[in-house]
Amino acid sequence: MPETVTGAQKGTKKGTPGEHPMADTLTIIDNRTEKDFEYPIMYGTYPEYGAAIPAKDIRAIKATETDFGMLCYDPGFTNTASCKSAITFIDGEKGILRYRGYPIEQLAEKSNYLEVAYLTLFGELPTKDELDRWTYDVTHHTYLHENMKELMAAFRYDAHPMGMFVSAIAALSTFYPEARTIDDPEIRIKQIQRLVAKVGTVAAFAYRHSRGLPYVYPDNELSFAGNFLAMMYRTSEAKYEPNPILEKVLDVLFILHVDHEQNCSANAMRAVGSSHADPYCSLSAAAAALYGPLHGGANEMVLRMLREIGKVENIPGYIQRVKAGDFRLMGFGHRVYKNYDPRARILRELAPEVFKVTGTNPMLDIAIELERIALEDDYFVSRNLYPNVDFYSGIIYQALGFPVAMFPVLFAIPRTAGWLAQWLEMLQDSDQRIARPRQVYIGYDERKYEPIGKRD
Ligand code: CMC
Repeated sequence: MPETVTGAQKGTKKGTPGEHPMADTLTIIDNRTEKDFEYPIMYGTYPEYGAAIPAKDIRAIKATETDFGMLCYDPGFTNTASCKSAITFIDGEKGILRYRGYPIEQLAEKSNYLEVAYLTLFGELPTKDELDRWTYDVTHHTYLHENMKELMAAFRYDAHPMGMFVSAIAALSTFYPEARTIDDPEIRIKQIQRLVAKVGTVAAFAYRHSRGLPYVYPDNELSFAGNFLAMMYRTSEAKYEPNPILEKVLDVLFILHVDHEQNCSANAMRAVGSSHADPYCSLSAAAAALYGPLHGGANEMVLRMLREIGKVENIPGYIQRVKAGDFRLMGFGHRVYKNYDPRARILRELAPEVFKVTGTNPMLDIAIELERIALEDDYFVSRNLYPNVDFYSGIIYQALGFPVAMFPVLFAIPRTAGWLAQWLEMLQDSDQRIARPRQVYIGYDERKYEPIGKRD
């Protein structure tokens, strides 16, 4: 007995998100009961990429009337669309990345971080007035409450800056209690301005603390990237003048890291935000997810790996150990990209520009040779393992003078715009509910409690 599920999205032409000309359906036959179930297929902008059926309606498939119903088993969400999203498009097979439809290559070449943050958050490139206003607002929210310095001072001298960052962002929520009113659009925007602005200051303060250096207050006359460099490196000079090439490179690095659709940290942002936690706590959770070595912590691991390899002659031996399963080649492989990560390509081209200013770095030679050997090796080729963004970002960060422990923090600064865009989209999507997956229980059936003296 076919069941028709409502809520299908069909009707108009390609290019209209969420809709598609074909009234396609999917029929599932339950061989236990010989019933069949028909589900309308939902499409995104590209019908060939991301056709989906509503997982909840699968529940109607039951062996008996009293069954809970069929679930989809999907550890790591490898084939689950948790949302509809209009922010970022990735075609991992072709190595394409676009924010709001704009190719990452064009944005990296022509735009700047604050403009890309605006685009990502609000959906369109800003007009000149809109950009001026946004830049002004962000620039004038970069200061932290003075109490934040005491919070920073409480950390040990060797505290990892990412641990400080995660804690400090959560702590910011206590300074802005109105942030809990997440359904007020004006309050939401104010927190977005604050967060986009303040993450750089928090990051720089974490660094200065670890070096025992005095905190440097933001300089409103500098660009977002230039001000960040000033807060990191200014010493006694009256006015810090960032090197324009390095400032530009940092800005491009920020652009490349703004968003990457439903990755581990964006998922954390949405999951925590779905409980209506305030954006500071949600973003702190997202940053915690980013901290892991399989996500934003990978660039740190890449540099440690290159140091361990030490010289080009050691690469073949190192690759043998990777292939033997001793460890992974950090900065290689991606859940989505089965081709060269377009961000890695941009950074590979940018790296020599940086080294013209900062002097050569033997790590770059090791990285390029490592990449060359890996991309000719059947182990990597057959598994579609290509360099990801972290492969080259770490080398550039190091050339810019950032200590390795700061790398995930540098990732978190621009990703803040992406996390907030994901959060905003989630709050405005009436389909979204509190994130609460199901499980397939594989534990004991009911057992009787035994007093401690009677247990084996
Ligand atoms: N080195 C060696 N082998 C690898 C690597 C690697 N870096 N990545 C994957 N493989 C192998 C893996 O062993 C498996 O082989 P087999 O089929 O023989 O068991 C196969 O490739 C598929 O791997 P997987 O773990 O099923 O792939 P995944 O999609 O679950 O993992 C990943 C993606 C990024 C976690 C993984 O590629 C990895 O651990 N890479 C190294 C860490 C890294 O660079 N992370 C940064 C990701 S990019 C930044 C971001 O967006 O967060």
